[in-house]
Amino acid sequence: MEPIANLNGRQLPLAEARISVLDRGFLFGDAVYEVLRIYSGKPWLLQAHWERLRHSLDALRIRGVDLDRLRQRLLATIAAGPFQEAIAYVQVTRGVAPRAHAFPAEATPTELIYVQAYHDTHAEMRQTGAAVVTYPDIRWDRCDVKSTNLLGNVLAAQAAQEAGCVEALLYLPDGTLTEGSHTSFCWVKGGIIWATPQGSSILLGTTRSFVTQLARGDGLTVRDGTLRREDLGTVAELFLTGTTSEVMPVVQVDGRPIADGRPGPVTRRLQELYRRAVGEFVANPAEGAGGR
Ligand code: PDD
Repeated sequence: MEPIANLNGRQLPLAEARISVLDRGFLFGDAVYEVLRIYSGKPWLLQAHWERLRHSLDALRIRGVDLDRLRQRLLATIAAGPFQEAIAYVQVTRGVAPRAHAFPAEATPTELIYVQAYHDTHAEMRQTGAAVVTYPDIRWDRCDVKSTNLLGNVLAAQAAQEAGCVEALLYLPDGTLTEGSHTSFCWVKGGIIWATPQGSSILLGTTRSFVTQLARGDGLTVRDGTLRREDLGTVAELFLTGTTSEVMPVVQVDGRPIADGRPGPVTRRLQELYRRAVGEFVANPAEGAGGR
């Protein structure tokens, strides 16, 4: 099925969507975005994605976006397919204006949604575990904003790909690991699940928040912590979380195994809980298309 877009309220095939070269998203990366997973035609963690979108828009002072209307457009675009297993991309830019760095006096935000079928290519790796590399975190100081300025992430992801790995974990000059180029990560040590503290050095992952909530509900302890690159050898388990990765065991970093080099029991348990939660979400008609 061809991807379908909604550009500023107009539905059309993605291949036909056009924006102005004076769009500030194109010229300055003056834009924010979200990526959502659609399971059986229903957008997963929709509320959390919309809250984060609001946070990003507020942080950049992009005004005049009707998020309820945008949500209705998203649901209509999914239904137009109709899409079952899919990804939705949502981007809002500050709009079109003559090129000047400061905010234009008048500009209407550009609102783009597109939905495309998704074939999960991670299934096998979720069983065997993934290999990742580490890469310097050269991004800016507001990583909590999901902006389309992704060069630091792009370079890191490319380094991972060239090393034959799925992801790059980013580290600060003092060795502190922040997050992946497009995923969050957690680790298990001393029977506790650890996660990087929420703040401006990471994007708070909707999947990570959901997974840690599942873990707590299952009686596991989750704490904020800091993991340095040189301490990777001391962790019992390491896993990625993300919209498309879901819960992905990491068994190797920079060519060295994590623990015994196989997915650990806590990660396995979280994968099971995650699958179950998605299954319940898909099966529950009361949830409606709006999702959680
Ligand atoms: N990336 N950290 C970064 C830097 C990300 O770009 C993402 C998501 C995450 C995980 O967030 P979530 O669990 O809400 O997907 C963490 C999306 C998928 C992307 O850029 O394609």
